Amino acid sequence: MSKTLIYAHRGASNLAPENTMPAFQLACESGAEGIEIDVQLTKDRVPVIIHDENVRRTTNGTGLVQEYTCEQIKKLDAGSWYSTKFSDCSIVTLDEFLCWFKTLPMLLNLELKTNVIEYKGIERLVYDALQSHQMLDRTVISSFNFNSIKTINEIDPHVQTAFLTSKKRHNLVKFAKKLGTTSLHVRYRLLDKKLVKDCHKNKLSLRVYTINRPADMNRCFKLKCDAIFTDCPYEAVEYRTQIQK
Ligand code: G3P
Ligand code: MG
Repeated sequence: MSKTLIYAHRGASNLAPENTMPAFQLACESGAEGIEIDVQLTKDRVPVIIHDENVRRTTNGTGLVQEYTCEQIKKLDAGSWYSTKFSDCSIVTLDEFLCWFKTLPMLLNLELKTNVIEYKGIERLVYDALQSHQMLDRTVISSFNFNSIKTINEIDPHVQTAFLTSKKRHNLVKFAKKLGTTSLHVRYRLLDKKLVKDCHKNKLSLRVYTINRPADMNRCFKLKCDAIFTDCPYEAVEYRTQIQK
């Protein structure tokens, strides 16, 4: 089996404000194989990259993403909360991101943030954007909301999808297979040898989040998880190199 891949979680989010262009650029320079992004919809139904449903934590604005038009949300400062050095950062639209990302030899994990707000129709909008940028073959679409996974599978059964979970669930692998997903993305505390074995026996990829401690990285590499999501891609790449020496 090949090495455990590294996805920069919200970009290199330990070095720059999460889900912004500087975080994505650093992720690309880190040697990580992939980037994970979180996608929600504005009031005028533009997919934008932001983790929370509310802009309060990561911008100078207040209120829900869905209460802003794209033009309005682009005016927010998405960097100063992290450091004044990043005060010129704005929220990135999915289209802006894909225009930049598609020229790079990297993998994408696009997380649909549909577990709190449904954002009806987001799956089709995101699918069309990925298709128009010819990104479908190196993207895995994930969600905590299994209905989003079902919808993507209905739109195109060949797309790689992942059911995301942080909860222990009886027969998780069976559930994922029934859902028709190609992978499972699980919180670290759910990881054990048996889960890795069950996933691989059932031809499911297993990716684990969010792995920032060296000891946890090493465990994921040794257990042969297919990928980890980390806020610290530079460190993860280094630890992986060390362990493989
Ligand atoms: O996709 C892995 C991870 O990003 C899921 O949780 O809350 O960080 O988006 P969260
Ligand atoms: Mg995420």
